[in-house]
Amino acid sequence: MILEFRDVGKRFYKGAAEILALKNASFSIAEGEFVSVLGPSGCGKSTLLNLAAGLSPPSYGTVLYRNEPVTKINTRVGYITQRDNLLEWASTYENIVLGLRIRGTPKARIRELADKFLAMTGLTDFANHFPAELSGGMRKRVAMARTLIYSPELVMMDEPFSALDAHVKMLMHEELLRIWETDRKTILFITHDLAEAITLSDRVVVMSARPGQVKLEVPINLPRPRDPFLIHTSPDFIRLYEKLWDALKEDIRRGDNV
Ligand SMILES: Nc1ncnc2c1ncn2[C@@H]1O[C@H](COP(=O)(O)OP(=O)(O)OP(=O)(O)O)[C@@H](O)[C@H]1O
Ligand SMILES: [Mg+2]
Repeated sequence: MILEFRDVGKRFYKGAAEILALKNASFSIAEGEFVSVLGPSGCGKSTLLNLAAGLSPPSYGTVLYRNEPVTKINTRVGYITQRDNLLEWASTYENIVLGLRIRGTPKARIRELADKFLAMTGLTDFANHFPAELSGGMRKRVAMARTLIYSPELVMMDEPFSALDAHVKMLMHEELLRIWETDRKTILFITHDLAEAITLSDRVVVMSARPGQVKLEVPINLPRPRDPFLIHTSPDFIRLYEKLWDALKEDIRRGDNV
């Protein structure tokens, strides 16, 4: 297993009040697997990623990365956070290549990779724009390119496409699947979009409303390569959608959504 959550709990404190964000959450991800986590708002999805990235420790339980407990910042994972954290004073190009510069990648190679990832994310014409001059969807794409460009062994993506309209989203799915099918990186993907989770994943982990626990794990045995524009019409897709919706629906009413 590349990543394992074992009976993980996480409490937060606000003054005297305690919030239990995660309760005995357990699941794992194998090398090369594409796993999505689906769950109501506030159930602890981003918290799981923060724990795996080593940004904060669990209150109890263990997070294992390649069988070692995560006790400090985990530099082997690429983390595309829910807030894009772009550098506002740096251009698209500079935001994308920052990680490579820090790693001391040779200049010519930086150029080459930057051109490839700008093209891949449709940002070539916006290379010299600053984040404030980009749309919400474009900012997300910069954040994605910035992480994918240095090829981390595990990529964690926190609702990366939630700001995109339905069609651009499907284009991004197509692109992400193409990248993944070529590189076979491990991907841990957070979403609240059932169709997105089914289209992309090998397995979907469904969480309950807060305190987040794993409620159900569903293998997605749809054949690959998958066509994000057509997959919704297959009877197997519809069957999986119904199964996931069944598991989610009560918790969505109990969550922070309403
Ligand atoms: N740093 C923090 N300090 C205090 N409370 C926090 C902190 N981070 C998260 N929480 C609380 O923990 C709970 C889970 O938050 P989290 O961001 O993990 O939810 P989520 O499942 O990612 O939700 P969403 O789908 O809305 O992004 C929430 O109640 C949130 O208020
Ligand atoms: Mg979140």
